[in-house]
Amino acid sequence: MTTPMLVASRNAAVGFDEGMRLLREGASALDAASAVVRIVEDNPEDHTVGYGGLPNLLGDVELDAMVMDGRTLKAGAVAALKGFRNPVLVARKVMEELPHVLLAGEGAARFAREMGFEEAELLTDEARRIWQERLTASDVPEDVARYYNHMRRFARDLARDPEQAAKDAGSGVMGTVVVLARDAQGNIAVATSTSGWAWKYPGRVGDTPIPGAGGYADNRYGAAACTGRGEMAMRAATARSVVLYMKMGLPLWNAAREATIDLYALDDEFANVLTLYAMDAHGGHVGFSNQPGRTYVFQTAEMDAPEERPCTFVDADGKAHIRSQDM
Ligand code: GLY
Repeated sequence: MTTPMLVASRNAAVGFDEGMRLLREGASALDAASAVVRIVEDNPEDHTVGYGGLPNLLGDVELDAMVMDGRTLKAGAVAALKGFRNPVLVARKVMEELPHVLLAGEGAARFAREMGFEEAELLTDEARRIWQERLTASDVPEDVARYYNHMRRFARDLARDPEQAAKDAGSGVMGTVVVLARDAQGNIAVATSTSGWAWKYPGRVGDTPIPGAGGYADNRYGAAACTGRGEMAMRAATARSVVLYMKMGLPLWNAAREATIDLYALDDEFANVLTLYAMDAHGGHVGFSNQPGRTYVFQTAEMDAPEERPCTFVDADGKAHIRSQDM
């Protein structure tokens, strides 16, 4: 028997009570991770995930989500899914019911309908207000391509000054929920979900539903998942990199540092925050980021509540600041 645990992005803390309850009762890591993510998807105050998520340029909420089971290396995912509240549950069904990994757009919505998921309006009044304010505050163009130029300007602002750009945009322009879980049998799983970049070009898909980019789990070595600018995690295969570095013999802390260093090789005029969360097969856990001041949460079955820890910040020279206590 191993000690069950959860490691996650900070916004997942609202679901930890339920995730821990499930793990203590013997539920699988996959069940626990999905349950925590589902709670965040249902939280209208979180404008980066599920119901209440900020929309794309046209005002449509498009959702991405994934699950991966470290026991079998099976994964299921949906991308650019509209009109369903819990994409993580649809992703799980993709894994269980189809010989596929990822369904996108209309196909994902059709599958969700066929699996009996209820359709729902995802754009809350608050998210619509933020979207409208953002668009009225700019010179609202007439067509999508010009919207896209607007988004490029915004993305540049974001790269220059993430905190200010996030404030201007409303809130949570690039958030995601990621949860890594380990159960009493030592099985590891990852679940992820996001509404993606606020004001993204319609159809844009980030790292969150891509196994190896936004999340990866392998019982033999550990698991990792990412939040932040998904394009970076996709190009660097960040989640898989962490696990692969561990397979090649690096301890967790060094593997996560190496994957963070890889981000600096990307030629990216929109380079921005990318934070990774990782655990090894022995219960070690870390958060790493290419930006200072990030945190992650974790809880073991022996703890009463989640604890917040600083992520280790790796600078452009590969120097790690704030060394995590969990090497
Ligand atoms: N990491 C979330 C996204 O880029 O969509």
